[in-house]
Amino acid sequence: MAVAAARQALAQAHRYPGVGERNLRRKIAARLGRGLTAENFVIGNGGTDVLRMIAQAFVFDGGNTIMSRASFPMYRIATDTFSGETRQVEPAPDLRHDVAAMADRIDADTSLVYLCSPNNPTGHIITQAEADAFMTRVPEHVVVLFDESYCDFVTEPNYADSLAYVTEGRNVLVVRSFSKSAGLAGLRCGYVIGRRELVDYVRHTQLPFHTSDVALAAASASMDDEDFLRELRQAVVNGRAFLYHAICDLGLACLPSQTNFVTILDPPSGANELAAALLQRGFIVRAMGAFGLPNGVRISVGAQEENEKFVAALREVIGVQ
Ligand SMILES: Cc1ncc(COP(=O)(O)O)c(C=O)c1O
Repeated sequence: MAVAAARQALAQAHRYPGVGERNLRRKIAARLGRGLTAENFVIGNGGTDVLRMIAQAFVFDGGNTIMSRASFPMYRIATDTFSGETRQVEPAPDLRHDVAAMADRIDADTSLVYLCSPNNPTGHIITQAEADAFMTRVPEHVVVLFDESYCDFVTEPNYADSLAYVTEGRNVLVVRSFSKSAGLAGLRCGYVIGRRELVDYVRHTQLPFHTSDVALAAASASMDDEDFLRELRQAVVNGRAFLYHAICDLGLACLPSQTNFVTILDPPSGANELAAALLQRGFIVRAMGAFGLPNGVRISVGAQEENEKFVAALREVIGVQ
């Protein structure tokens, strides 16, 4: 449905984008309920663009942002872009965000704290208890950003309800994306949710005709394609369980994941070497040095046939019979 809608929008490509952006904001607001309206949203060209806009709105020269060391590098890049200082906080021994240590690093010049849930590259969620404990310690001048780009793949019941903080009027922004949730990474559409006064700062960083009508049409249509979304989620949940167990059975350490990837830890050959060996067999996986996890290799869940071929290649590379 999304691709058909994109094709249809292409027929109007000679026109500037029209009301598609506002309509998508209205549609997402209606879906999420909780009294949210179109004014609680800003749409961008993927979550990455939204993260950039947020940094443009809140990061300032001499100010700082806080993130976990093993998390999405775009937070540091966006902070650098607007001349802020990134404080990278050591994760807990199990690689979860150490939210208490993150709260300890907040000071008068902190503008943003990045909580990635589920986290790239470790795959863990921020639980309700962790989020509540953290939120009680956050001063008024700090914006807490929950990056929930992978939220649709979460199956754990204790996933923090970040939108509740938004509706309570806290300084919380929630970033989501159609890239993973709807399999539309190439079309570039993501958004941020927050209380109106807060997202208005982000809206001011948006360029005229910011997002293409093709991307907006596809994103909107994807929301109605319930069969596809259900199948996508199921394939991801099944695929990550298959990969996790297969990798553990090979005697490797693997992080349990709430995302659409799994991460191998401490491969005996080294992370870069394992990624290179798999590339030679046609599998593009990523060593996670740039994500603060130099001993990690991240593998995206594929179709079941691809997952099985991947495990066979991995078995060959690590020399298990
Ligand atoms: C945690 C996280 N946030 C945001 C993004 C941005 O995704 P996109 O720009 O495709 O929406 C990614 C992409 O990998 C991600 O892993």
